[in-house]
Amino acid sequence: AVIRRADYAPYPWRVPAIRLDFDLGLETTRVEATLTVEPNLDADAAEDIRLDGDGLVLESVHVDGEERTDWRRDGEALIVPLSSGKHTLTIVTRILPSENTQLMGLYASNGMLCTQCEAEGFRRITFFPDRPDVLSVYTVRMEADREAFPVLLSNGNPVEEGLLDGGRHFAEWHDPWPKPSYLFALVAGDLVARTDSFTTMGGREVALGVWVREEDLPRTSHAMESIKRSMNWDEETFGREYDLDRFNIVAVGDFNMGAMENKGLNIFNTKYVLADQETATDADFDAVEGVIGHEYFHNWSGNRITCRDWFQLSLKEGFTVLRDQLFSEDMHGAAVKRIGDVRVLRSVQFPEDSGPFAHPIRPDSYKEISNFYTATVYNKGAEVIRMMRSMAGIEAFRKGSDLYFDRHDGEAATCEDFVKAMEDGAGLDLTQFRRWYEQAGTPQVTAEQRHDGDTVTLVLKQVVPPTPGQPDKAPVPIPLRIALFDREKGEHAGEQLIVLTEAEQEFTFEGFAKPPILSINRGYTAPIALDRDISREDLVFLAAHDDDSFARHEAMQELLLGYLLGDADDEARAAIGTAAQAVLADDALDNEMRAELLTLPPFAYLGERSKIYDPGAMVEKREGLRAWLGHEFAGQFRDYHERLTNLAREEGAQGKQARRMRSLALGYIAAADEAEGARLGLAQYRAAAGMTERQGALAVLAGLDGTEREEALADFYARFADNPLVVDKWFTLQAMALRPNVLDEVGKLAGHEAFTISNPNRVRSLYGAMSGNPVAFHQESGAGYRMIADLILELNMRNPQLAARFVPSLGRWRRVEPGRSAMMRAELERIAAAGTLSRDVAEQVEASLG
Ligand code: ARG
Ligand code: ZN
Repeated sequence: AVIRRADYAPYPWRVPAIRLDFDLGLETTRVEATLTVEPNLDADAAEDIRLDGDGLVLESVHVDGEERTDWRRDGEALIVPLSSGKHTLTIVTRILPSENTQLMGLYASNGMLCTQCEAEGFRRITFFPDRPDVLSVYTVRMEADREAFPVLLSNGNPVEEGLLDGGRHFAEWHDPWPKPSYLFALVAGDLVARTDSFTTMGGREVALGVWVREEDLPRTSHAMESIKRSMNWDEETFGREYDLDRFNIVAVGDFNMGAMENKGLNIFNTKYVLADQETATDADFDAVEGVIGHEYFHNWSGNRITCRDWFQLSLKEGFTVLRDQLFSEDMHGAAVKRIGDVRVLRSVQFPEDSGPFAHPIRPDSYKEISNFYTATVYNKGAEVIRMMRSMAGIEAFRKGSDLYFDRHDGEAATCEDFVKAMEDGAGLDLTQFRRWYEQAGTPQVTAEQRHDGDTVTLVLKQVVPPTPGQPDKAPVPIPLRIALFDREKGEHAGEQLIVLTEAEQEFTFEGFAKPPILSINRGYTAPIALDRDISREDLVFLAAHDDDSFARHEAMQELLLGYLLGDADDEARAAIGTAAQAVLADDALDNEMRAELLTLPPFAYLGERSKIYDPGAMVEKREGLRAWLGHEFAGQFRDYHERLTNLAREEGAQGKQARRMRSLALGYIAAADEAEGARLGLAQYRAAAGMTERQGALAVLAGLDGTEREEALADFYARFADNPLVVDKWFTLQAMALRPNVLDEVGKLAGHEAFTISNPNRVRSLYGAMSGNPVAFHQESGAGYRMIADLILELNMRNPQLAARFVPSLGRWRRVEPGRSAMMRAELERIAAAGTLSRDVAEQVEASLG
């Protein structure tokens, strides 16, 4: 069934309070739910109450203390006749956590019990109106075996705990803040905590806990520091204070997504909690901090103000992604963070926005909401709010966010509420801007320059391309930060923000005797695809001199794209060489920014920028360019690799920057000279003081042949075999290698003793990496497509969410050359014909086949 945004109706009942009594066990858990219900006076009255359920064994229903047998089932839902007025509903169900392979609801992971309820997992725990606009105060009592489950956690604050007969114990928690069911959480297990405390700006002392298995405790200090930094930042930047006496996070080894913002009890994939120098890279450290920030920031943008319905998902996710991006920019510098965020947007969200599953950041309909936890809702959603911030300015934007938090605190709100608060608080007119919420598709903008006398005219045009179900689009407001460089002086006289609102519009600037060099969309103010009419020489100038780091990087990327997507001519390559030389010689650059500037565009983005592409030819061209650069600048890359050896062993920003540049240099050295790359790679591997250097070396070695590769891979596995997150890296590095026989190796790895289909991280580490590796996935025989289709079918019922995530890679068949395209489509058809499909997979496959 299709759910439509236009069909929203409030729930006929309110549920101001719920009490949950759990008798916990891995095999079977008994749940007694006591709901206080009363008519919702804002909704049409109903003669019964309809409660969502999914896979529950119903044991009994009582209303106001009387057992009832006049209930009925409608599919998975439970309907109980109910007269108007206030009632108490008591429902007993039984669930089977260890058989829960979907990892939604209450499930077992490594002998512990935990929950994931967003979006619709709570209905797998008990019958309830499992929708975000029903807010209740939760009281949770858990009873369990004391030895197996010494720690019992839930939302809010602990109320009581005690011993019971038969080696059992109990704990009771109370969360005073009304919340929707998707924010409910419970954890029971043999866990230990790193504890600390944070005093809020209002003087509240918050007890912090990071809960993990005992052996992981040494890897929790970064997570704890990240919590404190997040709390402090949200106070300073958005004026948001924490609102409970406790804040706990728990690390779980089996988790479908990154983490979950359950009120007062965030549950995390271990990948985003555990980190130490030996086992985590610099990028892993930053990801931990970013995700901890993200979940913490949801306490206001998500929990205190939640979503009215799931079409509003970007209300909390887009805003919270923006908040976590700004947090990371403040922690480590904006330039590199912005470049990385835009790289993700363009290599993941752009393909989504131009493909069969394109949807607006606020979708109009869905079959399975899990399919809409997308880069569009999250990352484009963040860009849309970032545009409001750019147009308003930081101070006015803060007034808008203050008004939003204040006006809607305690409510289940809509995207429209947010936009209105921004209009009222920040003083923006967002009438036309609302189209960003309505229309899918990446606006295509062209920029041309005319010069006449002293006047420069910038001619901008925009087209929002048609997407499935949306053939006709209207222009959107596109804020563009620009600077015009005087060609003689090599400087500009200040930036300005222009807003393109029409399909075609001209902007004039006076005082330019010669045509200036245009630097546009500086800082990436708008999530658009831009074609500008600019000469190669001017791009080289910007790549060497633009004072906006993003724009400088962009100029370099344009030079690279021009070569990789055009005819690979010598002049285009020579221009890249000139710009690269300037970057290598620029002492004012830090080494991380230097490495960013010399990083080739991701394969997915190259595909996105081509109408139809031949993956084999594209990889060859890209790797050919890498080898050419490695050869041209062999001396300098070796010099950097050598010279940064000691700095790369240091802590702090400079050490991190050095490590980034060193591993980049190693990649170029190996591309030009395999033997030298193998030799230096093994040396870097052996001498590595931490995981960044070790993984950097192994990533290069894994792409080569020979004994150095074998030695390093064997050593890595032996050294880290008992650390699941590092074993994931071992799978990933091999599955990412651009080697001709990589697909056979992936096949072998799937049979490795450490491989298991039941752990999402492990599945992603092998098949996620493989599906992003053009040599493996797009292997000419079609074996890569078959392997992914087989995986989707195997996961289909076991873990539908995980299965569905692999469909979009096949869904790109329209963009690939005809031979491969037909095979990709055939695999989708094979899945479609395979009998019972989960809703998740079915919706993705239907969209992909169009
Ligand atoms: N709200 C979580 C976050 O943004 C994501 C949870 C999504 N879970 C799911 N099963 N779709 O961090
Ligand atoms: Zn989120």
